Amino acid sequence: MTTQATTTPVIARTRDELREARTHLTGQTAVVMTMGALHEGHATLIREARKDAEHVIVTIFLNPLQFGPKEDLSKYPRTFDSDLEICREHGVDLVFAPTPDVVYPDGDPGVRISAGPLGDVLEGQSRPGHFDGMLTVVAKLMHLTRGDAFYFGQKDAQQLLLIRRMVRDIDFPARVVSVPTVREEDGLAMSSRNTYLTDSDREVALCLSRALTAGAAAAIEGPSAVRRAARAVLVREPLALIDYLVLVHPTTLQDVPEWYRGEALLAVAGRMGTTRLIDNTPVVIGPGGGRREIFSETVEPV
Ligand code: PAJ
Repeated sequence: MTTQATTTPVIARTRDELREARTHLTGQTAVVMTMGALHEGHATLIREARKDAEHVIVTIFLNPLQFGPKEDLSKYPRTFDSDLEICREHGVDLVFAPTPDVVYPDGDPGVRISAGPLGDVLEGQSRPGHFDGMLTVVAKLMHLTRGDAFYFGQKDAQQLLLIRRMVRDIDFPARVVSVPTVREEDGLAMSSRNTYLTDSDREVALCLSRALTAGAAAAIEGPSAVRRAARAVLVREPLALIDYLVLVHPTTLQDVPEWYRGEALLAVAGRMGTTRLIDNTPVVIGPGGGRREIFSETVEPV
C-alpha cells in the first residue's frame, strides 16, 4: 500500500469553512464522497483520486435523505477519528464533514433529483426513495465541493450508473470515475455494513461473492448458464435470504435475453441475519467472456 504521511487534512464542518478552505486548492481537485466508517474500499478510491489530481477532498456525511424509516441510519457505524486517520495517511487535503442542518439548512428539501425508472428497480425496489435521496446529496456535494472529478465504487453499481446518468442527463460539469470493487481476501466485498455481521453471518455472506464467481465462470455459455451457476451457489446457503440475483444490461438494468452477448452486470442482494448486503460483478457474455473488474467506458444499450 502506498501511503503518504502528510499533515492532517483541513476539516470543514460548515459551508463557510468549506468555501474558505476550498479557495486554497487551486489545482485539479478530485472528490471522494463517503458516509464515513471508512475501510480499504474507500481508501482505494482516495488513492485513485490522488493519482489523477493535485488535491483530494473527502466528504463524510451520513445522508438521512437516502435512508428509509426502517433502515439503519441510527445504528450506522460512526468512526470519525479513524476516518480522519485514513484521510491523513492518504494525504487528503480537505475533509468536509457537515451535519444534516448544514447540508439541509431548510429541512428536508422539497426539490430533489429524481432517479427516474432506473431508480425503481433492484435496490430501488426494496429501498423506495433511496436513489432520489442519494442523487440529491451527490448533486449538492458536487456543487459545494466544486470538484473536477468524482470517484465512485463499482461496489454500488446502480448508484454509479445513476450518478453517471445524472451527470449526462442534466449536464453537470463533472467527470465521474469508477473504481473496481475492493474485496476481503476470501472474496467478501468490503462494506461499512460488514461490521454488523456476526462470525456466522459473515460465513453465510460469502455465498454472495461465490455466486458471482460461479456465474462469471459460465459467461462463455450465455445468460441462462450464468444465472443457473450463480443460483446453484445461493441455494446451497439457505441462511442467506436472497432479495434478487439478476443478470442485466449495464445501462438499462433490464434482464439480458438469452441471445445477448457483451457486457452485463451480475448483481445480487440478500440478508444475512439482520444485515442486508449487495454485491455485483461486471461480466462479458459470450466468446472470450468472463469476469471483468469494470465496464469499458461506453456501453451501447441493447
Ligand atoms: P459509502 O457507502 O460510504 O461509499 C462511498 C463510496 O465508496 C461509494 O462510491 C462506494 O461505491 C465506494 N465503496 C464502498 N465500498 C467499496 C468497495 N468495497 N470497493 C470499492 N468502492 C467501494 O455510497 C455512499 O457512501 C453514499 O451513497 C454516497 C455516494 C456517499 C452519497 O451519500
